[in-house]
Amino acid sequence: MKAVLFGATGMVGQGVLLECLRDDAVTHVLSVGRSASGRRDTKLTEIVRDDFLDYSDIAPQLAGYNACFFCLGVSSVGMDAERYRHLTYDITLAAARTLARFNPQMAFVYVTGAGTDSTEQGRVMWARVKGKTENDLLKLPFRAAYMFRPAAIQPLHGVRSKTAWVQAIYVATAPLLSWLVRVAPKYVTTTVQMGRAMIRVARDGYPKPVLESEDINSL
Ligand SMILES: NC(=O)c1ccc[n+]([C@@H]2O[C@H](COP(=O)([O-])OP(=O)(O)OC[C@H]3O[C@@H](n4cnc5c(N)ncnc54)[C@H](OP(=O)(O)O)[C@@H]3O)[C@@H](O)[C@H]2O)c1
Repeated sequence: MKAVLFGATGMVGQGVLLECLRDDAVTHVLSVGRSASGRRDTKLTEIVRDDFLDYSDIAPQLAGYNACFFCLGVSSVGMDAERYRHLTYDITLAAARTLARFNPQMAFVYVTGAGTDSTEQGRVMWARVKGKTENDLLKLPFRAAYMFRPAAIQPLHGVRSKTAWVQAIYVATAPLLSWLVRVAPKYVTTTVQMGRAMIRVARDGYPKPVLESEDINSL
């Protein structure tokens, strides 16, 4: 499997990158981000860029992949709706439309979140935006598309959130999360499990396009 990874510097993306580098099923990873991941590996190539809306300058480099793990994303806390929509919907769909054009055999895996609103009509802004993003991704001509909706995620193997307050919460709740991963898989997964499950669905498929925490943990 040759995979494109967005968001490799973030909490989820760091975990997914580690799993891709450990898994022999993944032969090559192309990371696209606004800063380098800091990892060196013979399987890893990185493109660092500022423009996440127009990929025409690097289009040939984005062809020939059969998986995309899209982990780029932000928290809506303290962000106005227009900015959140830009960072969530516009950036994700711009990348996905480009990848779909050059990689019809690709499985696109998007990290969204528990509580995402597929109706796009609910009261919660972030949930509507994520819902529209999911819905429009599912219309693109990929081989397959999967929406991962984790609730809490325990960071493992030194993975850290880029968002300071999220990192602080995960540090403070680390012992509790370790316990909850075991007793409440409906609500908690890990960065390791996220990475493994993404690789698994991209390679083998999954019976439904939207995966909640429990589905992710079952893979
Ligand atoms: N963490 C959780 O517990 C959790 C739970 C459920 C769902 N999620 C979802 O998972 C996704 C990833 O979350 P995370 O926790 O990994 O976030 P994070 O640690 O804050 O990382 C965010 C990632 O997105 C990139 N990014 C942010 N803004 C960008 C921009 N304007 N242009 C280019 N890249 C940008 C960051 O790149 P830089 O390194 O350059 O900043 C980083 O790679 C989000 O959609 C989030 O809603 C997370």
